Amino acid sequence: MAGNWKMYKTPTEAADFVKALAPQVKDVHDKTMLLCAPFTALQKLSDAAVGTNIAVGAENLYWEDEGAFTGEVSAPMLKAVGCTYVIIGHSERRQYFGETDATVNKKLFAALKHNLLPIICVGETLAQREGNETFKVIETQINGAFQGVTNSHWTSIIIAYEPVWAIGTGKTATPAQAQEVHAFIRKLLPKDVANDIRILYGGSVKPENVKELMGQPDIDGGLVGGAALKVDSYLKLIKY
Ligand code: PGA
Repeated sequence: MAGNWKMYKTPTEAADFVKALAPQVKDVHDKTMLLCAPFTALQKLSDAAVGTNIAVGAENLYWEDEGAFTGEVSAPMLKAVGCTYVIIGHSERRQYFGETDATVNKKLFAALKHNLLPIICVGETLAQREGNETFKVIETQINGAFQGVTNSHWTSIIIAYEPVWAIGTGKTATPAQAQEVHAFIRKLLPKDVANDIRILYGGSVKPENVKELMGQPDIDGGLVGGAALKVDSYLKLIKY
């Protein structure tokens, strides 16, 4: 269950979240708990998470290790502040910051090179869904993102299906709609690894709908924005 905090939380707020959460989830062994935070909060967040079963991730990275790239942050820098995961190609990055399948692919390889587990996001817009383009869009995004990926890489990769029309809108894909796309994505993956790859659903996941969504055979977890900002709510997502 991955929280995507987006542009929320100062370092202190991030650390306080973990301090409140950790004692309540110390006996959770059957789920991966991950909090993805803004760059500025990562050091304090991972310091607070030391000795807990909570993992820390970033929300983006740049593909070069270092250099004259003002404002960017690299995979080795994320590793140095305790990240083990990184979200790549979130729809907000695609929509507002020019992310493309080609840049997603470069970032994926940068993450893999430095042993960061990449969470690759794909998903269609409302216009694309209404135009019956969902499967074509998803296939293009998957093919673009994973170009050049070989079998040794696949088990480190996590995919998140996030229909853009369901993100932050309160509109969730129905479990059947989500399952249909998850199954489609799994079919696009190499057969020998497909069942081992975790495919997360994202888009208005909340305590009220988490159980039904996670009950679908091809949904392996969630990527959650709004409902992961408060400890009580995140805890309900873990203990559904
Ligand atoms: P949401 O965001 O849960 O607030 O819809 C999900 C996401 O963008 O990852």
